[in-house]
Amino acid sequence: MSAAEFVPPGADLEQLRAAAAGCRGCELWEDATQTVFSAGSPRARLAMVGEQPGDQEDRQGLPFVGPAGRLLQKAVDDAGLDRGDVYVSNAVKHFRFTQAGPGKRRIHQTPELRHITACKPWLAAELRVVDPSVIVALGATAAKALLGPSVRVTKDRGVVMERETSLGLRRFVVTTHPSAVLRVPDDKRDEAYVALVADLRVAATVL
Ligand code: URA
Ligand code: SF4
Repeated sequence: MSAAEFVPPGADLEQLRAAAAGCRGCELWEDATQTVFSAGSPRARLAMVGEQPGDQEDRQGLPFVGPAGRLLQKAVDDAGLDRGDVYVSNAVKHFRFTQAGPGKRRIHQTPELRHITACKPWLAAELRVVDPSVIVALGATAAKALLGPSVRVTKDRGVVMERETSLGLRRFVVTTHPSAVLRVPDDKRDEAYVALVADLRVAATVL
């Protein structure tokens, strides 16, 4: 199970996007509406990687356009980052969900390691093309996809980590997922949001 055979070698971002629309690298394409590839400039200096598209993203074909996306946009602004300098994508490019029946609400289901692994060739290919100065992993799924299974968001967040990649030494910052901030109880949510912004500021310092 892998997207590898669907990734055209030497492709630019638009060619990758077009090819990903037809990916059958795992079973997640079957129930989803469409592949949600990425958004943002191929010249962006900062890339943010989420988990997978949600309900709204699946319908619109764009990453981070739902509630978590709105929170993330605000955090990007509050961190003093220029939206035009940010590329956004996801570790897994189809929406994984459960649904009790037709017309019922689609409930997000966390992707498994096999989905992350299957989809990784897309992430590798797009990051090779964009080659940002720093890559921000939003939450555990992205952190696993980018940095391996030993990374822990709570322990490793908010510091610049340098890792050897196929492109050479590259910089990463791990932080919480914006959806996790939304799930924090009311009285603690501001604190969680401020911590997310602080982590994004750390990423901004290397630009
Ligand atoms: N959550 C994600 O991880 N990615 C999206 O694109 C939307 C919500
Ligand atoms: Fe391909 Fe990734 Fe979609 Fe699976 S989730 S079908 S690997 S694009």
